[in-house]
Amino acid sequence: MQAVTRGMEKKIGGKALNWAELGFEYIRTDLRFSARWRDGQWDEGRLIDSEIMSLHEGSPALHYAQECFEGLKAQCARDGRVLLFRPELNSERMNQAAGRLLMPEVPIELFLRGVEAAVWENRAWIPPFGSGANLYVRPMLIGVGGNLGLMPAKEFEFRVFVSPVGPYYKQAGLAPITLAVSAMDRAAPHGTGNFKVGANYAGGLLATRTARQQGASEALYLDAAENRYIDEAGSANILAVTRDGSLITPRSAAVLPGVTRRSIMQLAADRLNMPTAERPIDLREEFDDFAEMGACGTAAVLSPIARIWFDGAWQVINRRELGNKIHGAGVVGPIMQELYDLLVGIQQGEIAEDYGWIHAIGT
Ligand SMILES: Cc1ncc(COP(=O)(O)O)c(C=O)c1O
Repeated sequence: MQAVTRGMEKKIGGKALNWAELGFEYIRTDLRFSARWRDGQWDEGRLIDSEIMSLHEGSPALHYAQECFEGLKAQCARDGRVLLFRPELNSERMNQAAGRLLMPEVPIELFLRGVEAAVWENRAWIPPFGSGANLYVRPMLIGVGGNLGLMPAKEFEFRVFVSPVGPYYKQAGLAPITLAVSAMDRAAPHGTGNFKVGANYAGGLLATRTARQQGASEALYLDAAENRYIDEAGSANILAVTRDGSLITPRSAAVLPGVTRRSIMQLAADRLNMPTAERPIDLREEFDDFAEMGACGTAAVLSPIARIWFDGAWQVINRRELGNKIHGAGVVGPIMQELYDLLVGIQQGEIAEDYGWIHAIGT
């Protein structure tokens, strides 16, 4: 087994990278994987140097957002193995988006080969075990070539690049965040909210900025039809622990089917013996019944929610029992802590699992 190059040897602008200080920003790594679809088929794909894409000005990705993407992480285990978490689910989700946007599917073999190559060939950029940082992997599928009318592209590029990242929200590790309910909708009930397509995110930029201006970490979207049921946050799914000890997550046709949420729901049922349910969650009706809440995703991992802005005020989760502590010392609820430890322990190869979720590469 080959160990990953460890330590601080990577430099940016002559300065050594300090893994502990990384935010969630693009850092150029050495190589990326690129494959092209033409005349009905994919080429083999290859690793390339340049991070610059030269695109025809008529590319449907640019005009009509005919593009989708994925996000997953590679982690360095204590023994130096490089671990991916359930990458087959990212492949499956990319192909669902491809179908929705009339793009060719990326065969799972090509998807995994591209992801593995981009990670392995940039392995010196994988933050070391215990640094709190990891390597974010961004596969993308875009429609390229000269088009003018509203029609699918005739050519497509599948690209995978990687970047070392720190925590998505400013605080490292498990620290409470805050959300503000957005007055803007993210996704219509039968629209594209359940697909990871760029168009959803362009529409969310203003909502995120507005939430940040209100002092929140992120926007929270309610359902577009009734403005009542929780959908999801700008880049994470929502979980809540009810006072009677169940873990619930919104059932909605408009939310992204998150790999993290699916995994946490299963861990809660199997390892914590919690009743779990995916069901519509009425924010205003049910808020007082929540003992804990969290936002989860590849980037967010599992971030406990301390308070939510809605109906003109900050509403504190479980004010009676956790509220003061959360405000004072950033205390994290016990279930979120347990779920976080389980999830991260499995993702880093510290806790054994027999689901087959861990995908080690380069071994
Ligand atoms: C809108 C949105 N919801 C949820 C998630 C969580 O999905 P996953 O757990 O697959 O990363 C993401 C991505 O991280 C997202 O962008």
